[in-house]
Amino acid sequence: MNKTTKAETAVSILTESEVAERVEALLRQMSLEEKIGQLNQVGGADFAPGPKAEEQIRAGSAGSVLWVNDTKRFNELQKIAVEESPSGIPLLFALDVIHGYQTIFPVPLAMAASWDTAVPEKSQAVAAKEARAAGIHWTFAPMIDIARDARWGRIVEGAGEDPYLGSAMAAAQVRGFQGSDMTDPERVLACAKHFAGYGASDGGRDYDPVYLSDTQLRNIYLPPFAAAVKAGVATLMSAYMDLNDVPASGNRFLLRQVLRQEWGFDGFVVSDAFAVGNMVIQGHARDGREAALRGIQAGLNMDMSSYTYTEQAAGLVADGAVTVSEIEDLMRPILAIKVKMGLFEHPYVDEDLLAAVVARPEHRQAARWAAQRSMVLLKNEGGLLPLKKDIKNVAVIGPLADSMESTEGSWMVFGHTPAAVTVLAGIRAKLQDAQVTYAPGPEIRRDIPSWFESLMAEEAPKQPQTAEDAELAFQTAVETARAAELVVMVLGETALMAGEAASRASLDFPGRQAELLKAVSDLGKPVVLVLLNGRPLSINWAAEHIPAILEAWEPGTEGGHAVADVLFGEVNPGGKLPVSFPRKGSHAPLYYARNLTHSPEDSPMYNPRYWDGLPVPLYPFGFGLSYTTFAFSNLKVSAPQVRVNDTVTVSVDVANTGEVAGDEVVQLYIHQKWGSDSRPMRELKGFKRITLQPGETKTVTFQLGPDELKYWSTNAGQWIQEAAEFDIWVGADSLAALHTELEVVA
Ligand code: NOJ
Repeated sequence: MNKTTKAETAVSILTESEVAERVEALLRQMSLEEKIGQLNQVGGADFAPGPKAEEQIRAGSAGSVLWVNDTKRFNELQKIAVEESPSGIPLLFALDVIHGYQTIFPVPLAMAASWDTAVPEKSQAVAAKEARAAGIHWTFAPMIDIARDARWGRIVEGAGEDPYLGSAMAAAQVRGFQGSDMTDPERVLACAKHFAGYGASDGGRDYDPVYLSDTQLRNIYLPPFAAAVKAGVATLMSAYMDLNDVPASGNRFLLRQVLRQEWGFDGFVVSDAFAVGNMVIQGHARDGREAALRGIQAGLNMDMSSYTYTEQAAGLVADGAVTVSEIEDLMRPILAIKVKMGLFEHPYVDEDLLAAVVARPEHRQAARWAAQRSMVLLKNEGGLLPLKKDIKNVAVIGPLADSMESTEGSWMVFGHTPAAVTVLAGIRAKLQDAQVTYAPGPEIRRDIPSWFESLMAEEAPKQPQTAEDAELAFQTAVETARAAELVVMVLGETALMAGEAASRASLDFPGRQAELLKAVSDLGKPVVLVLLNGRPLSINWAAEHIPAILEAWEPGTEGGHAVADVLFGEVNPGGKLPVSFPRKGSHAPLYYARNLTHSPEDSPMYNPRYWDGLPVPLYPFGFGLSYTTFAFSNLKVSAPQVRVNDTVTVSVDVANTGEVAGDEVVQLYIHQKWGSDSRPMRELKGFKRITLQPGETKTVTFQLGPDELKYWSTNAGQWIQEAAEFDIWVGADSLAALHTELEVVA
């Protein structure tokens, strides 16, 4: 197969009209069947239904292939497309590369916890390099669904609850994957998903319907998508579920009005897997014919693996329900992207490239750096952390302490074998001369196994541990802890406990972990709790009784090293929560940007929202500690009164008042005090992560202008910026107390 050199892979950047000309020239030589074929994405895995990939490709019935992760096979399939299909149009190979290909980075929720857009941008650039070297052109990422319900398993794949933070992370990921132009042979096409509203499923139950008002959709759920489009994202994926009773894949409002007309998106949209055909199951379309019609009319370009387009579209054209030009309109952006990427000139991948690319040491270094920056210190009573390296005897306890899979986390690339440095390995590497003992304690598993487990497993699933074995493991863990000077407990959720089809009703520690934590804590030794998890957990007891808690999320391949770097003070943690931590699963959805009510908490007439425990978060949005302390002062607005459309500068002094250098994430929140709609009591409108030496002070500035002050109004039915007064707070989290005001006049 072709051996490409760097010089050969250089593809020239074409102008829009050159691209259009080539697309039209291709189009003229294609039959209707081939045009429809470009709208079809073939599932190349055994579990995918439909005719064999080779047959579909040879017949010209495939525009793209997903669920293949095999460099040699990519070239074989491409050869069929280029040499044997009627018009020889190359295929786009797509795969879910969510947080790394071979070098695994922290899960996206963790990357968002860095509050540093360089983290997702650099991480996804490495992911792109490795994936592209494997032959992948297109990743189904970033997932940018806002998630305010921690029960929803897919919260792990996004940036959390906030549209402002979420938009920044969305754009950064697009830049990381795609770079600045599509000809870059070390980048992949990105796909912003799942358009739109998926994170708001009823009760946090994955796939369940979503009901969102216009203001929720416009102000909260759509902004990350708008940001991705603005950043030049090549593709979007339509979501599975009904949005306000219309499946997202047949939703003209989303796909035509918002995406194309309002935002001017010129790339293409792929459905989620089988989603076009599933409109029948969902009770929206009468049959496959109608499902295809709904998709086409809504402007959905590519059918992921349901084959509804390939089976139905020609018939729809024959009976006049759809015109050839409608099919061509759906197909043009797909061809245009293939042309722009230079796929026609360079359809093949160099089969020797991948090994060299994944071996680059800078990829591991980037993964360690990203994990370090993602960690959030939740508690550090009495300065227990950082630990001293002269410690002689440490016990590392917990079912996740030595789990490579849970360290790399949810959404592995198909066929990837976890190879992470676990927390146990990271601590051992740091303490070469100490005794580091380990006991996992009782295993943890889902009450109902994951569908993905059966899909991916090469061997039959392991039988659950018996109650006796679990008890023995429990006692062994306690005895191991008893013999140590200090205990590091590594608890949380396994990789398959968050992610797709991984919602849960409770946010407690699964299994006997809480009980084990208590039993170890009762030994009276210093205990550090390291959390590995892809969603907020209700760790109420631990928050009260365990002196030091580090939220490490699912930190990726280098995760164990990064945890040890933080535990032993080589890195001062500076991450902040991108989601509120509820005290109970039943408090979800819980988020900081709620509207005020007639009975606010500080009023004498306040009525508690529940009488069995207040639904205030255990840890608020934006929260995170450091090994040093910071002080905020001197909050100023450049002008106390401005006109609508003007921009002001907000400035604040931040000082490191502790003994060591550290990072603080300076956060700006606003509240519009009145207006044509009620506005949230706080909304994030700016953040900056800065590093300060001990004793150092920096002045941090933010701009507040129309982009930050406008909102979508129900009453006005459009985006507006109003004359009103605004509260402004700047501080270290969403409870920031330092306050000033701004008046905007007409
Ligand atoms: C289903 C998931 O919802 C989506 O996120 C993913 O990209 C596709 N399957 C393809 O694997």
